[in-house]
Amino acid sequence: MAKRFHSLSGFFLGLFFFFHLYQNALILTEDGSTHFNETYQFWNGSFFFLFFKIIFLYIPFFYHAGFGLYSLLTTRINLTQYPAQANIRFSLQKLTGVVSLVFIFYHILTTKWIFAGDVDVQALEQLLVHPVVFVFYIVGMICASFYFSNGLWSFLITWGITVSKKSQKISLIFCSAFFVWSLIVQSLVLIKFNL
Ligand code: HEM
Repeated sequence: MAKRFHSLSGFFLGLFFFFHLYQNALILTEDGSTHFNETYQFWNGSFFFLFFKIIFLYIPFFYHAGFGLYSLLTTRINLTQYPAQANIRFSLQKLTGVVSLVFIFYHILTTKWIFAGDVDVQALEQLLVHPVVFVFYIVGMICASFYFSNGLWSFLITWGITVSKKSQKISLIFCSAFFVWSLIVQSLVLIKFNL
């Protein structure tokens, strides 16, 4: 049961990840700075969204991170029983999960507390101008994209949505496409901030 909740909490985080991509991609539209600032002002501006975030983002995040780390530290992994390609993805899932966790903590700390809820395009530009921060964002964004794309593939199996080998192959193509697409969108966003 705890494992299933882990999978479900990951799905909620994935939904947020998708929505967050959309929020950030607004910077790429015409008059992007205005749209970007507006979306965050709206997202931070109501009690309803705070309540919504606690239920569907913060609680799933802490549960997912806590249970994930616990499993990582207590489970002995037998990699020999799976085919090579699945093994690599399995190991990458653990690695990118840990890096994403560190990145997300850092990211929330900087965007929320250092900017005191007053996030806007200029504040992010000032942050991303530092090469080390910029590279860390690139690494965090690659890891988070992999983690959520590969996690979606596992989620569909865990919940019995892709049962046959064929459906798992099709979902692998879909999840890989999502991975590439999210990398492209976020790279464009980061480049735009750094120009
Ligand atoms: C292109 C790179 C990114 C940019 C420009 C960006 C921008 C932002 C901004 C401006 C906020 C502040 C929101 C607020 O104070 O309400 C935020 C929050 C957040 N970001 Fe990102 N982000 C990026 C990548 C990511 C990635 C890869 C993740 C991984 C899942 C992520 C997860 C989060 C989370 C969990 C929050 C807290 C949300 C909230 O409390 O409202 N971000 N991001």
